[in-house]
Amino acid sequence: MDIYDLPHSPARRRVPVKDITTGGAALFWKMLRLRRRKFIEERCAELILTDEKLREVCQRLLVEINRGLNKDTNKEATVKCFPTYVRELPNGEECGKFLALDLGGTNFRVLLIDLGPHIFHMESKIFAVPQSIMLGPGTGLFDHIAECLATFMHENQVDVSPLPLGFTFSFPCSQEGLTKARLATWTKGFKCSGVEGEDVVKLLQEAIARRGDIKIDVMAVLNDTTGTLMACAWKNPACRIGLILGTGINACYVERLDNVQLWDEDHDDPKQVVINTELGAFGDNGTLEFIRTEYDRTIDQHSLNPGRQLFEKMISGMYMGEVTRLVLAQLTREGLLFDGMGPETLFEPGQFFTKYVSEIESDKKGEYTCCRQVLEELGYDDATDEDCANVRFICEAVSRRAAHIAAAAVACLLNKMGQKHVTVAVDGSLYRFHPHFHDLMVEKIRQLINPGLTFDLMLSEDGSGRGAALVAAVAVRIGGLAAR
Ligand code: GLC
Repeated sequence: MDIYDLPHSPARRRVPVKDITTGGAALFWKMLRLRRRKFIEERCAELILTDEKLREVCQRLLVEINRGLNKDTNKEATVKCFPTYVRELPNGEECGKFLALDLGGTNFRVLLIDLGPHIFHMESKIFAVPQSIMLGPGTGLFDHIAECLATFMHENQVDVSPLPLGFTFSFPCSQEGLTKARLATWTKGFKCSGVEGEDVVKLLQEAIARRGDIKIDVMAVLNDTTGTLMACAWKNPACRIGLILGTGINACYVERLDNVQLWDEDHDDPKQVVINTELGAFGDNGTLEFIRTEYDRTIDQHSLNPGRQLFEKMISGMYMGEVTRLVLAQLTREGLLFDGMGPETLFEPGQFFTKYVSEIESDKKGEYTCCRQVLEELGYDDATDEDCANVRFICEAVSRRAAHIAAAAVACLLNKMGQKHVTVAVDGSLYRFHPHFHDLMVEKIRQLINPGLTFDLMLSEDGSGRGAALVAAVAVRIGGLAAR
């Protein structure tokens, strides 16, 4: 039996607080509170990673990245380091109208982007991707994408002549060119049949052909990390890393061709290529067991892809709420929280969202307005200040661990690149909405990078969609038709 299957502890009656807060009784209860907190801190100690451990994470990730880049070891490597075929970054001179598709989570976006020298205008529409489509046949998914695209093109009257299109497809793909990407494996709760091993651009074009009412010209397929990097590099030439901290976690960076043994195209200028690391799969060979906990193992066992994306499952928005829920549920069972009688929903998988962690940590220290709102939403309306303080402590332990290991990954890339100053473009709901993630990461990266290096983290909002148009635009600017 694992902690998913454990029953909720039998409800005990809560002692009314007003009867016990005077005189010697008050002292007794204060001591009890302090003891409980001490136990909670002890139980959460495994979530606190020392700098020594984080340095070890950096070193192990470097080993895995090098194994990914090396032709002889790539096959068995867990961090695949796919070359993206994106070699030129935007210079701000790109012009024209572009369409972009952005698929990477439960929402799918279609964008129309009008680019001029240093001008950017964007129309976009969000469409939901229902679970039935996420888990159904691949043709269903691509027909849905084509239908959303057609609706958008008709509404925006851009259905007459074919426009260049950039397709952000945020799953691990082995690229065979700027417009050819084979899905290696699904991640983030998708499991459509008949797509793994296939070229997703071809599947998109076939779905569009089945409809027959729109025409597009696919100029590029890319990962959201590349889009994020491109969107930021359009304004900031120091940008060399793209990082997503959202439903999933992943990073790309600009690598010298000499370091990419996998690269078997020309070595002409620019002697660089953007590498999509797919570092969410870091740890899938057991190398992170020294920091994984029982909670991480439980989440993995109950996921759609057990044994895969183990680094991602410790950090990203799809899993962080669930890690927190498992800790809260366990400590409630042990009688350390809510007098052993937490809300029932705490014992149901998937009912504690990552956004709750962000909300709880948004309260000012010592205030619990948001925390109480979250607990009320979960069906629990008599939380004491002690409960709220402890819930917040647990949220902080889980999110701090996530921010610190994400920081270790960025530090690893910065140290590997060894450039004096690098801007890291970041996007994703976890980074955007968690009130302290940015600061926690900056502080930790500073401690982990080599002396003499500097960096900044820059929000690249909507980067994955905007970046798709920019990759298409750069391809057009440098005569991308030939590059396809
Ligand atoms: C998952 C995907 C990866 C994507 C990341 C962020 O890790 O495998 O391709 O970049 O999520 O969306």
